[in-house]
Amino acid sequence: MPIKLPEGLNTALNNADNVLVLTGAGMSAESGVPTFRDAQTGLWEKLRPEDLATPEAFQRNPKMVWDWYEERRSNIHKVVPHAGHFALVEMERHFEHFLLATQNVDSLHQQAGSKQVVELHGNIMLSICSETGKPIDDEWITTSTDTPPKSPHHPLGLARPGVVWFGEGLPADFLRRATAAARDCDICFSIGTSTLVQPAASLPFVALDSGAIVVEINPVPTALSTQAQFSLQATAAEALPLIAAALT
Ligand code: APR
Repeated sequence: MPIKLPEGLNTALNNADNVLVLTGAGMSAESGVPTFRDAQTGLWEKLRPEDLATPEAFQRNPKMVWDWYEERRSNIHKVVPHAGHFALVEMERHFEHFLLATQNVDSLHQQAGSKQVVELHGNIMLSICSETGKPIDDEWITTSTDTPPKSPHHPLGLARPGVVWFGEGLPADFLRRATAAARDCDICFSIGTSTLVQPAASLPFVALDSGAIVVEINPVPTALSTQAQFSLQATAAEALPLIAAALT
């Protein structure tokens, strides 16, 4: 059944001028990007996140980790943003202050046209040096015959994906901006995230504690659902176009 926005949400939307949006894997899943857990199929079925997405895993078996990310990269090349991504672009144009903090690493928000984006968990298309963290040129990567390519920046370095692994810190400046936005916003949207993986998961709770209205969009209830003022049990591509259409 098509969803309808609650009346109070229309009012809140039109009284707001400062908005924070947090997105997670569910946002990209609707474009066809498997969530982290769903990506562990086929060859990767028997591996846990700790076997693939930690600095220790990369140290133990850099080729296996690199190959897993290569497969994820090639899946991401095949997908495009959905109606929910485009609705967020309209929302960014509408509100005076707007920040989109994403846990997704696939650039689908930027591909849709979002500009005010902070990538809390990095970007999978970027390669960085395992020793220095410096970005490595695409050309260097594509012309290398090693798997993973050696880093041009350090004699012991290897190229690794520019994503934040379990046990690693988030980009400090991005986290600071997102936390400040959580404190200052009038409305915080939490979309397609289980609100389990810290520290990003705390952002909607910081917004709640700071007096903001929190709107969750997720077909499945989460730890946030009972606390958010509005919990829309719908997918991102269903709910976000309705929200963009309600802006006056
Ligand atoms: N629209 C909205 N929500 C959806 C949709 C959809 N179309 N499809 C799935 N969801 C919801 C699921 O119900 C789930 O609550 O998206 C959520 C995805 O949760 P997780 O897989 O835990 O993803 P996320 O919260 O982004 O996890 C954070 O952990 O997996 C690692 O590094 C990865 O960035 C990720 C981080």
